Amino acid sequence: MAKGSAASPGHLMTEEGEGQAGGCPVRVKELPPGEEARLVTLGFKGYTGLVRTQPGGMLMKARYKEMAPRFYNFAFRPDDIVVMTYPKCGTTWMQEILWGMTHLDELDEADRLPITKRTYFIDSDALYQLEDQMKDRFLMERFRALCPSARPDRGILLQSCGAQPPHPSKPRIIKTHFPFSLYRPDLLDRCRVVYVCRNPKDACVSYHHHCRLINTYKFEGSFETFAGCFMAGDVFYGRFWDHVAAAWERRRHPRLHFVFYEDLQLRVLEQLGDLAGFLGLRLSQEQLETVAKHASFPQMKARDALTPLPLSSSTNPSVGSFFRKGTTGDWSNVVSSELDALMESWVQEHEEALGIRFKYTLSG
Ligand code: A3P
Repeated sequence: MAKGSAASPGHLMTEEGEGQAGGCPVRVKELPPGEEARLVTLGFKGYTGLVRTQPGGMLMKARYKEMAPRFYNFAFRPDDIVVMTYPKCGTTWMQEILWGMTHLDELDEADRLPITKRTYFIDSDALYQLEDQMKDRFLMERFRALCPSARPDRGILLQSCGAQPPHPSKPRIIKTHFPFSLYRPDLLDRCRVVYVCRNPKDACVSYHHHCRLINTYKFEGSFETFAGCFMAGDVFYGRFWDHVAAAWERRRHPRLHFVFYEDLQLRVLEQLGDLAGFLGLRLSQEQLETVAKHASFPQMKARDALTPLPLSSSTNPSVGSFFRKGTTGDWSNVVSSELDALMESWVQEHEEALGIRFKYTLSG
């Protein structure tokens, strides 16, 4: 059996297709007085109504509080492919690769529907306001069709995803930035996980751009201030190293596939071959090439110009677009030498502790 092959067929589903009711040890607390104001003063103008998770101390929107047990107990299926990442580490690229590998017979569909609508970003139900989600016609039509009697406030994405009928060759592709600690400990017994990570300097630069672009965060401070918050874990999804560590320690699990963004850039076909093997897909060299091209940065950026990703309630178009540069090493154009000295010691301390080594440039 291939590394990531499903252990058993079938899946758990309740009436609404969401997770079985169950306990949830995740605690969610409002921020202490003054904490939110401190973050707003630093530049995160969108940081209102926040909570922190325990474990993890992760910042999240207040909606997460009521949703935490639904995420924790979500009924993943053995054939699901979950893309788990810290934000800005290549999630969208991997979603498109996985979708391409499993939809080779209908790649044109990507011209019509953005990847966000061909896969499920389940965190959306905690991250975005319900009113904003309900303005998305596609999301609501799919929700009504898949779960006609369900209540939107119980999670539009979670319930739609839960109710998607199983397909023999087109598994659900589920994106999440939530770390392992916010899911049941047997997550890897219940589905396959592809974990993508990226060097934290480029991830930080990309996250800074994202937080300026998306009004959920509405970051208006300097890059230096953002980087300080990033290193302290005072951003959504918390501390970079905690997130990576939880996946890294599971990297030998047969149902986890660990991928570095930089390796995907350096050796895309080899990486796609390994990924196909993990998924138990027999793809020819020509098919791998087709997928690599379909998910290449230029093709994804070009498609985004025609069918933009609906990212959240609103974005600040003056900041640019989601598909920024898609390169490795751009941090060196943004990070000052003073800041880099700080980042280097932060990186070295954590890389040594974890026994992981990122690539910060593609040459040498
Ligand atoms: P940059 O901001 O450095 O350009 P995520 O999908 O996890 O949010 O990650 C977004 C980052 O991945 C952005 O990085 C984006 O440009 C980059 N990206 C998206 N599609 C890509 C692709 N096909 N190839 C390489 N990088 C890609």
